[in-house]
Amino acid sequence: MTSREIATIRRIALLFREHKDAILRNWIAIMHREGLFQDNRELEYFRHGFEKLLNDFITHLGQGDLEAYYRGNREIACQISYNDISYEHFIEAFHLFEDSYMDILSATGEGKDVCGCLSVIDRLHHKTIAIVAQAFFEIHDNTVFALTKLAAIRDYGTGYHLERTREYATLLAKEMHPEGDFARLMYRVGPLHDIGKTGIRDAILLKEGALTPEEFETVKLHTVIGAEAIEQIIGTHKLSRGYLKMAWEIAFYHHEKYDGSGYPTGLQGEAIPLAARIFAVADVYDVITTARPYKTGASHAEAVARIEAGAGSHFCPAVVAAFLRIHEEFDAIRLRHQDQVAVF
Ligand SMILES: [Fe+2]
Ligand SMILES: [Fe+2]
Repeated sequence: MTSREIATIRRIALLFREHKDAILRNWIAIMHREGLFQDNRELEYFRHGFEKLLNDFITHLGQGDLEAYYRGNREIACQISYNDISYEHFIEAFHLFEDSYMDILSATGEGKDVCGCLSVIDRLHHKTIAIVAQAFFEIHDNTVFALTKLAAIRDYGTGYHLERTREYATLLAKEMHPEGDFARLMYRVGPLHDIGKTGIRDAILLKEGALTPEEFETVKLHTVIGAEAIEQIIGTHKLSRGYLKMAWEIAFYHHEKYDGSGYPTGLQGEAIPLAARIFAVADVYDVITTARPYKTGASHAEAVARIEAGAGSHFCPAVVAAFLRIHEEFDAIRLRHQDQVAVF
């Protein structure tokens, strides 16, 4: 921020202090007009939240303290999201808040001053929204992870399969697709890959010893069950499509093989989405190197040899090439998240 911009936001803070009550009144009136809230409970959370936001705005911007202002916004986003209010709803309310103060400032003739500083305000709002979005996503991710962990406890006990596979897959994603959101999305959706196992009976999922061919057919269905569950969410949450699309691809296709001999569809080669081809390597590396009740864990070197040998048959050659470039980092993750013996 330049000193001129800091002077500008101080001026804005002063205007807000002068017109604080009118801005809040106007904001609530706009919310009513738009029919944004279903009940008084939601309205009260927002009234309280935005009053705090406005006070923070005035205090911190008045002192030129932008970082404290952003921290305050993040806190509000956390409180609001814990009260079951969606990110989209919060952002919509935030935009109405902008309208409310622009209306008041124009009505009082102060608008011209503020409009002259639009680019500064604009940047403040963009950053505010980005910070709020991040807070919402973090809370969302932590909730999803806690639930998937709970679901996975039947299958993996107290082990760290989800933590390790998400990190292996994220490493590969970064190596193959360093630009954009690809690796970040992988980290967020990876733990959902086996969510469909919640739909497989204990007698089969937890069976000690070899499965019969029919039982194995049932286990294979975890890909379809998981994808169906995610599909239903896609139908209701349009804004999260990128996230859920990758979650769906991984849940459905992570057991496909490059030569077409996998399941559930027998899809082949590059027709299998890249995210799922990556996840297959991450998942199998973990299965090979982890001890289960019926087997001991193999060494890192052995896992590398087996994955290399599977290039072109089980695994996508490009993913295996990426794996061979960074395999030492897999070993480091494996050692960092080793399964402990359960104490309960
Ligand atoms: Fe699986
Ligand atoms: Fe898995």
